[in-house]
Amino acid sequence: MLITSIVGARPQFIKAAMVSSVLKKKKIPERMIHTGQHYNFKMSKIFFEELGLPEPAVNLNVGSGSHGTQTAEALRKIESELLSHPPDAVIVYGDTNSTLAGALAAAKLNIPIFHVEAGLRSCNQAMPEEINRIAADRLSSLLFVPTQTALFNLKKEGITKNVHLTGDVMYDSLLHFSRIAEKRSYIMKKLRLNPKDYQLLTLHRPSNVDNPHQLKKILGLIQDTANIKTIFPVHPRTEKILKPIKKQFKSTICFIPPVGYFDMLMLQKHAFRILTDSGGIQKEAYLQKVPCITIRTETEWIETTKNGWNRIVGKKIENLKTLLKAEKRPGAWKAFYGSGKASFKIADIIFKWLRKNKTRYTKSS
Ligand code: UD1
Ligand code: UDP
Repeated sequence: MLITSIVGARPQFIKAAMVSSVLKKKKIPERMIHTGQHYNFKMSKIFFEELGLPEPAVNLNVGSGSHGTQTAEALRKIESELLSHPPDAVIVYGDTNSTLAGALAAAKLNIPIFHVEAGLRSCNQAMPEEINRIAADRLSSLLFVPTQTALFNLKKEGITKNVHLTGDVMYDSLLHFSRIAEKRSYIMKKLRLNPKDYQLLTLHRPSNVDNPHQLKKILGLIQDTANIKTIFPVHPRTEKILKPIKKQFKSTICFIPPVGYFDMLMLQKHAFRILTDSGGIQKEAYLQKVPCITIRTETEWIETTKNGWNRIVGKKIENLKTLLKAEKRPGAWKAFYGSGKASFKIADIIFKWLRKNKTRYTKSS
């Protein structure tokens, strides 16, 4: 019996952490492939260290490149790995190019695919992630959906079989690692921050950061409107564009390198509010009960927008100014993302699936 997990980008390490640990508890052998899509210490290794993830069996060192190049390189190398170490199934997470490459490589070899965080839709095909999600969902044998909305999205596309509503694995990670982060993170001290006296900002979507005018506009709106300090851990994609324009925002925005998960959880918890274009961080803001403004035209995490917890900027970036000025206490909070036991549910379903399909897929157990 062997499960191969395919990860490659920052949010995937966080999604895989608890699932991997439960697979181990259930004695389901796992082989982890790291595509190498993210490779800087603070985008990759730090998460393996903090989250206690097993050292990947192999790092394919795919690195950066255009979508075609990055996906093709990952596909080619994953295929070779799956041929040399044939698993009973592969697990792919989320919606990155590593997810797509993993799903394609497995599908072409008739290896069953289990998709964790299936069914998410932004209904915006200009987002590379939307293409990746749709493809991964269509090719998967087991689809683990985090929310009712995701279940409904799949139903609309005619995908109803082998879909399991498990809750969100990122909630499992948040609950588990927050306790550790409280003890191990010194970021509040290091940056001399007091709870609620700053806002947290992250930006990495191509539509916000690849064009320097757009990035400048966003930072300008924040600088002009907000009367509190902004802490901005900068994604390397954003850093490239930001470098020449950083200086003009330094009086109000504190630019720092990407932070590890423990520091991120603490920065989120104590923030007055969070401004972001990240999928994961919007949801974590909600889970940490911190108001959020999402600097995007839409969100796939629509539950977070209920009762004003997450407000979406929309098509006109100037709307950010209005939202920043009109801060209101959000209303009632509901548990939309499960109970923090998604990883256990997923591992249980995988275990049963492997037993049921033993004769077909399992070479030895
Ligand atoms: C990717 C995912 C996105 C996810 C994000 C999480 C795709 C299509 N996009 O976007 O869905 O939200 O990860 O962070 O898969 N870079 C470095 N060092 C690194 C990693 C990246 O310098 O360790 C720089 C490179 O210049 C690279 C750029 O960041 O070209 C973008 O990296 P890439 O992995 O292609 O996309 P992300 O924007 O990180
Ligand atoms: N994250 C982190 N340090 C950072 C930025 C993000 O630990 O400097 C974590 C964050 O808490 C969340 C995940 O990385 O769990 C989200 O990753 P990202 O925003 O890169 O991707 P997305 O969720 O948009 O795909």
